Amino acid sequence: MEQIEAKSFLYHVVLFYEFTHSGFKSSVPTRMKFSPVLQLLPFLLVSATVAQNDSYTDGSGHPVASPYDYQRAGTRGPLLLQDFHLIDLLSHFDRERIPERVVHAKGSGAHGYFEVTRDISNITMAAPFSEGVGTQVPLTMRFSTVAGESGSPDTNRDPRGFAIKMRTSQGIWDWVFNNTPVFFLRDPTKFPLFIHSQKRDPQTNLRNATLQWDYWSQNQEAIYQIMILFSDRGTPQSWAQMDGWSGHTYKWVKADGTWSYVQLKITSQQGIANFNATEALATAAMNPDHNTQDLRQVTDRIEAGNFPTWTVAIQTMSPEQSLSFKYDVNDLTKIWPEDEYPLLEIGKIVLNKNPENWFSEIEQLAFSPSNMVPGAEPSNDPVLQARLFAYPDTARHRLGPNYMEIPVNCPIAVHNFQRAAWMRIDGGAGTLPPNAPNYPSSFNPPVSFVQRPYNLSAIADPIVGPATTQGSYQLSLLDFEQPNTLYNTEFSESERQSLVSNVITALNTVTSQDIQQRSLDMFACVDDKLGAAIGAGIGLTPQVRSDSLDQASSAFIYLLISVK
Ligand code: HEM
Repeated sequence: MEQIEAKSFLYHVVLFYEFTHSGFKSSVPTRMKFSPVLQLLPFLLVSATVAQNDSYTDGSGHPVASPYDYQRAGTRGPLLLQDFHLIDLLSHFDRERIPERVVHAKGSGAHGYFEVTRDISNITMAAPFSEGVGTQVPLTMRFSTVAGESGSPDTNRDPRGFAIKMRTSQGIWDWVFNNTPVFFLRDPTKFPLFIHSQKRDPQTNLRNATLQWDYWSQNQEAIYQIMILFSDRGTPQSWAQMDGWSGHTYKWVKADGTWSYVQLKITSQQGIANFNATEALATAAMNPDHNTQDLRQVTDRIEAGNFPTWTVAIQTMSPEQSLSFKYDVNDLTKIWPEDEYPLLEIGKIVLNKNPENWFSEIEQLAFSPSNMVPGAEPSNDPVLQARLFAYPDTARHRLGPNYMEIPVNCPIAVHNFQRAAWMRIDGGAGTLPPNAPNYPSSFNPPVSFVQRPYNLSAIADPIVGPATTQGSYQLSLLDFEQPNTLYNTEFSESERQSLVSNVITALNTVTSQDIQQRSLDMFACVDDKLGAAIGAGIGLTPQVRSDSLDQASSAFIYLLISVK
């Protein structure tokens, strides 16, 4: 028993140490209910004892007189294998790197809180909303670029990741968003292949515009996202000055089991600021960490108490409304027009604490869209469904099977039957005693159970017919309608000009005229003027017109794979 208590005690010391030393504590609002684990004051005493004994040691805690000492035979002979300090130092150093994220590798973030500002009990039973207006929960946010490696310039043209980890009383709720309302694709199988086309060429290890536009011009459902990417919105000046969107449709459920489709938008209260292409390139050359530094201190945002703030709003659509919605409610390449589905403000986000240990608090973060609380459910969007699998999967690879035990990922309370595996430090079963049975036992029951909050089958769409195989091989003019509105109505004149000039610059580096032509035709399907302007800059004439389905569909003969 004593031994068990000692193990659990040690784990709590680690947790307490991490929370007090990583800066989470000061970002946690006072209303937050801590896990009892974190309230165990006796550990202060242990920390104090450790703190007094702060002389240098090797990894096993043995005092070492100087970190620069090493042992050798004689004064000029070979090294001695018995020199544990040197071997420990080198072998730990040899293992310092963990795999970087396969996408979104370059990024950083900060801690803060989410506050509920509206009662939405008529929309969802999810915590923290169910806990009343004014409830705050601690969060950590990470911003990122997508395609570049962890050392790449963070002002490169790219969408920006906008990921939020909220620690609610009902478990972790991750919002793994981007700074754009749509995405490049609506078929999950395309994601790895699309990313391959944007990352380095396997032969040359260089980024390759020809491959990028080859992919895009064959998969033109990406057009809306491409237009945002090649406007100045593709090069944000500051992570604090951009908005975030869920992109996906979710289902938010009430306690009685009725539900609505929901999309989220997060609006920066600092306003929007973007670099133009020249400024973005110059900044990348001068300071590849510009945005990282900006969030931390360049503009004295967090350090000076000038806390970045965002408002959080939702759009809702009833299942009945979705039947007459012009687009598929689960199509990630489409927006829900705000005049038809107005934004309803429900909360705010404040970032008030920089990380004190970047690796522990940012690099080891593992977000997943599958981290949802009761009252929030996934829609049938196939890309979202694939993401539910992919993120925990990649976390197990990047951080190990016990990645949820890492303090920054750890829920406030966890009681389960997961045991052992690499790097288990809590003895198993979360905050349960390590000797608790690791199955639902009939004696000494280690865990109680809650009622199902609602009947899952009541919120599931009826499934009809046999299994099918699908893919976006055919596009229609509907796919170009919202991009046309974006170009003509939402973009300002200067955004239109930036788009044209940035696309011309990019297409002029494409080495295949076929790829240039079908990329040009993709823009001509959006708008004839846009096609003409880009064509003039690359010396080609559009082969399609935007106003004719027949002519527009000729753009799609380029699709290499077609469904017969
Ligand atoms: C099938 C589609 C997708 C797949 C398979 C996928 C996969 C991944 C993977 C493997 C990571 C790295 C995670 C890690 O190492 O911790 C990642 C990161 C990320 N993804 Fe996706 N992704 C998809 C679509 C999307 C979409 C549609 C969005 C936005 C709406 C998005 C937003 C993000 C963000 C923000 C991150 C960075 C998270 C962080 O800061 O750690 N992804 N994605």
